[in-house]
Amino acid sequence: MGDWEQLRRTCMACTRCGLCETRHNVVFGVGNPQADILFVGEGPGEQEDLRGEPFVGPAGKLLDDMLSIIDLDRKENCYIANIVKCRPPRNRDPLETEQDACIGFLREQIALVAPKVLVCLGRIAAKRLIREDYRITREHGQWTQENGIWMTAIYHPSALLRDVSKRPETFEDLLAIREKLRQVTETR
Ligand code: URA
Repeated sequence: MGDWEQLRRTCMACTRCGLCETRHNVVFGVGNPQADILFVGEGPGEQEDLRGEPFVGPAGKLLDDMLSIIDLDRKENCYIANIVKCRPPRNRDPLETEQDACIGFLREQIALVAPKVLVCLGRIAAKRLIREDYRITREHGQWTQENGIWMTAIYHPSALLRDVSKRPETFEDLLAIREKLRQVTETR
């Protein structure tokens, strides 16, 4: 766990961008560091900033329900992190410069977890990790493989709170994620 502790410490003390001035807590990540699947959101909201844990507000409650549909639990068998580790004021999208300053931490987390499957939660994560011109409406649920990791994106839980009509297709995406996870883990 030496590498993790070092990374966590560096991240907790980070002043690489202006978000450090308004944060209450750095939101490093949560879950099993040996998980086969990693979920990546956008950045902490108010509740996350106050508690120091990703996805603990209303969107987080929905995310936990989505995970349980496919037999996942944030403490047991997956890992959850964000593109930026500190809350953007008023929950605005993280700026390109803030993402650039922070993305190295996520890259190190990805290397340490070494997941078989990586799921982007929403547009911002998909654009950053899959393709700059990623279109979530058109491409959610599609798969690509990069450096041995199967990658996909689904709608962000906040989008599903705002627009319940997106839930049935997300349910299908979740089932496909469970299936992919089965496929890639049973060949070991
Ligand atoms: N939205 C995100 O993208 N990440 C969180 O941690 C919380 C809400």
